[in-house]
Amino acid sequence: MKKTILITGGAGFIGSHLVRRMVNRYPDYHVVNIDKLTYAGNLENLKDVENASNYTFRKIDIVDWEQVKSVFENFNPDAIIHLAAESHVDRSIENPMAFVMTNVVGTVNLLNAAVQQLKHKPYFLFYHVSTDEVFGSLEEGGFFNEKTPYDPQSPYSASKASSDHFVRAYGNTYQLPYIISNCSNNYGPYQFPEKLIPLMIYRILKNESLPVYGQGLNVRDWLWVEDHVAAIDLIFHAPQAVGQTFTIGGKNEWKNIDIVHLLCDLMDHKLKRPNGSSRKLITFVKDRAGHDLRYAIDPSHLENTLGWKPSLTFEEGLHKTIDWYLANQDWVNRVTSGEYQLYFERQYQSRT
Ligand code: NAD
Ligand code: TYD
Repeated sequence: MKKTILITGGAGFIGSHLVRRMVNRYPDYHVVNIDKLTYAGNLENLKDVENASNYTFRKIDIVDWEQVKSVFENFNPDAIIHLAAESHVDRSIENPMAFVMTNVVGTVNLLNAAVQQLKHKPYFLFYHVSTDEVFGSLEEGGFFNEKTPYDPQSPYSASKASSDHFVRAYGNTYQLPYIISNCSNNYGPYQFPEKLIPLMIYRILKNESLPVYGQGLNVRDWLWVEDHVAAIDLIFHAPQAVGQTFTIGGKNEWKNIDIVHLLCDLMDHKLKRPNGSSRKLITFVKDRAGHDLRYAIDPSHLENTLGWKPSLTFEEGLHKTIDWYLANQDWVNRVTSGEYQLYFERQYQSRT
């Protein structure tokens, strides 16, 4: 049966991988990508599917109720997978209100439209893509799972926690069928080069200083983006997932400094630079305010109930990622031109 699936934020990093997967794997679905095209959204990320007959793009700001309503009226969707967000912690420290608007108000607009849509499609499904950062910071030893209490520490994670709460509240109050997944840090092609891994790759390539916050001892749990998207696909299609939460992660914890060292060494090799030369670019800078020490996910619920497993080792994923950024330097130069340069300079100056 033909289904119409709205994907919000489909021109961003994770969203573009999800749109590509859904368009290619499910020719019977009409995939409607709605995205405001902020600095982080780029239709170039979707060149290979833009002419597919089962794909439509609409430039929509989810904060604008009239625009949201018209998308639901025009496309009469069966489900929404919601990824649109302001997603960078450092930017949330600089300008929290943008995060409240898109991540909270935008999500509530979509929820209101979804509740109205239940009149036309009683099984309409709201799938909310969220982050493990809503659980706060871990000491050594523990892991986040579906029962971990919320304890957000940054304006970004507070806005995502708030949107998660609204989704559950709409499930409880209006019987809106929903799913929430909370994933660890993603990496891979098309990630905007303000996040740790692509930023370091891009700056190593240009022989520029590599800003490591604090002493580089904070720990993140990294997942290949296509493994996250495969998990979303699996969960979205599992009837028993409705009303449930899933934590997604690849059991792949790294201290930031160890990742930066590894990237330096891999890039020295790929760029045929003398061993150790990129490590000299590392600059320890002022720490991020309220910097969460550690994130780590226990994905056993997802593994045991739906049989999900990551497909790549970190080393394989990093090779693929570096190779993609080396082959797509035009993309990097285009997305980082203009406003981004000013943002980076501001960030860098405030830390040194
Ligand atoms: P991203 O910043 O790369 O992309 C966000 C997309 O949302 C962009 O295309 C942007 O144009 C769009 N957008 C922003 N504001 C909008 C608005 N008002 N209306 C419509 N579109 C708007 O983000 P990402 O890294 O791909 O993250 C996608 C989602 O996954 C987010 O909800 C994020 O919280 C979540 N998440 C991300 C990670 C990660 O490591 N990147 C991990 C777990 C969860
Ligand atoms: P980031 O990619 O911003 O993801 P998040 O903060 O959402 O986990 O940062 C990952 C880690 O890398 C985090 O501990 C902050 C650190 N970091 C740096 O040390 N230097 C940088 O330039 C950036 C962007 C991040």
